[in-house]
Amino acid sequence: MAGEFCCNYAALCMTLTIKEKIEQLRDTIRYHDRRYYLENNPEITDYEYDQLIQELQHLEKTHPDLITADSPTQRVGGEPLTQFATIDHKIPMLSIDNTYSDKELKEFDQRIKRMAGIDTHRDIEYVVELKIDGVAVTLWFEKGLFVRGATRGDGFKGDDVTANLRTIRQIPLKLESPDRRQKIPSVLEIRGEIYLPNKEFQRLNDDREEAGEPQFANPRNAAAGTLKLLDPRITAKRRLCIFAYAIGYFEELELTTHRDCLEMLRGFGLPVNPHTRLCENIEKVIQYCKDWDKRRSELDYMVDGMVIKVNSLALHGRLGATSKAPRWVISYKYQPEQAITKLEEIDIQVGKTGTITPVANLTPVLLAGTTVSRATLHNFEEICRKDIRVGDYVVVQKAGEIIPQVVSVLKEKRTGKERIFHEPATCPECKSTVSKDGVYLRCHNPLCLSQAKRRIQYFASRHAMDIEGFGPALVEQLVDKGFLKDYADIYYLKFDDLVNLERMGEKSASNVMHAVEESKNRDLDRLICALGISNVGFHTAEVLANHFDSLDTLANATQEELEEIYEIGPVVAESIVDFFRNEHTRDIIEKLKAGGVNTKKLVSQKFVKNPKVAGKSFVITGTLQKYSRDEAEALIKNSGGRLISSVSKKTDYLVVGEDPGSKLDKARELNVHILDEEAFEKMIK
Ligand code: IVH
Repeated sequence: MAGEFCCNYAALCMTLTIKEKIEQLRDTIRYHDRRYYLENNPEITDYEYDQLIQELQHLEKTHPDLITADSPTQRVGGEPLTQFATIDHKIPMLSIDNTYSDKELKEFDQRIKRMAGIDTHRDIEYVVELKIDGVAVTLWFEKGLFVRGATRGDGFKGDDVTANLRTIRQIPLKLESPDRRQKIPSVLEIRGEIYLPNKEFQRLNDDREEAGEPQFANPRNAAAGTLKLLDPRITAKRRLCIFAYAIGYFEELELTTHRDCLEMLRGFGLPVNPHTRLCENIEKVIQYCKDWDKRRSELDYMVDGMVIKVNSLALHGRLGATSKAPRWVISYKYQPEQAITKLEEIDIQVGKTGTITPVANLTPVLLAGTTVSRATLHNFEEICRKDIRVGDYVVVQKAGEIIPQVVSVLKEKRTGKERIFHEPATCPECKSTVSKDGVYLRCHNPLCLSQAKRRIQYFASRHAMDIEGFGPALVEQLVDKGFLKDYADIYYLKFDDLVNLERMGEKSASNVMHAVEESKNRDLDRLICALGISNVGFHTAEVLANHFDSLDTLANATQEELEEIYEIGPVVAESIVDFFRNEHTRDIIEKLKAGGVNTKKLVSQKFVKNPKVAGKSFVITGTLQKYSRDEAEALIKNSGGRLISSVSKKTDYLVVGEDPGSKLDKARELNVHILDEEAFEKMIK
């Protein structure tokens, strides 16, 4: 008895210490998150931070019962969603009326005084904030914990994007109260703007260009697109940010000014824009708005105006709202930043899949803080529609866009020497006839060198085979000199081919040779990604590598087999089948193999965990008692198993819950192993 007591007591002490240790680690991580993401002033290196996270992950793994939803390890949870749920906003998310001049701002000030019965000579205090050009969201906290978040939608109903919002490190999963003066309310709804910093936008677009994927037109579209991704693991990689600017519904709070609200939010650990200012009257507001019009290009995020809010919350109540917008707030919108310059030439680019696009080559001009010498012309129809000619003076603009665009032509500046640009009938690189694909032109020649260059660049790029030093300039030279015709040729390059190239010494040449050699051992997911199959980016490549154990098994898969894989739809399946059916592709794959490139899943593949489950195919039917369908699927996938939607003779196991469907009969007929819930649990554990 005593012994048993001792054991239990010791166990209790152990759990306590581990629990405490876990809590301590979480607090430390939250503290460093705050230093890094809110104060921009990290105290420890990324490496040290990762060590803390790893230690916490390790402790939580050995004590899964101690995992809580607000743990910093729980930002990227589960599996991709199939669609977003809809959330009703408890308080509608209204929009804001716009103004464009001092006059309109003064009218706004007068209107408010009139409506609130305030003497027109008295001053009203305003809080002036930057108008962040992003996506509005609402965040719902209960007892200090982040429980839900949604987009604005139509103002009354939005999409539940909680899983994506949880990946944003600036959003605390648990509100802080550092000075303990401010009690955390039991319910608090916070409104704010999600945005993508310009640098991050640039990085994302560079990656997309490298991967041959369409680029985002501006940071707002990129932020919106990222927030609406169904797979939070991808969202997590894109580093969205947020500025909190208001509260929505709340309980148990006593606040008198908007400024107090912002201070409270800041205290809770949310980022509030540092350039927010309290102005004592409308004249000061106007001055502050004008100051920022000149300064906004200094910021690392897009700002399309200023938001002016009455400071007194009592006045908010008195003023109320129209059906469209509250009466106590207005925005002062900036004109998009524009400049005039000469269009010197129209260049033509050929993408990895043969898309041909025009690009304007400009006399360099300063625009919104950066020198611009190229601008997108989108497509050839646009050149025609805007009547853009080579030699024209054009207006270029960055309207929330990082990539400038040609807005219009100054026809009055024409001298008669301008040249009308004709859509090319042939590919500028290989001279083969091009055809129309919607508004785009496309070169269909599989041997086109321009496409080959893009494909080889992509093959060697960071997300694909990651061959260090094998950048666009090197590929350009190697293709032009005839050393490379396709990406498999990389593995047949000789030291002498490299060493004589421009800007290449013996050291660089041997580094490249070494990097090429090293890339032969990349795992299957990278190789699949590198092949450049249409509609197969690195995430889909990962899904495929998780399912097939070698490139050969993938190459031999039928459309039906591919479609059975979770996350692979008919369009992607068709692209894959088409790709491997092509004789040219098959030759290249043989060449890759002969060149020594690994085409099999390596033993280290991260998903091979549970040997009883790994590589086996599962179908689920009926309702399980202990697991939801999503949970059961996640368990199988995380253990390296494959999920199939229908039973065939290749199915390894049918997991049967209550009220099974016809799948059970089929499985019996085909002699497929049948697992009840207990047997499934035993196997999975
Ligand atoms: S306040 C009821 N403050 O601008 C007032 N909005 O054009 C709620 N926005 O939907 C909005 N920065 O997405 C507010 N500092 C700021 C803002 C801001 C950007 C966005 C917000 C809103 C849109 C209206």
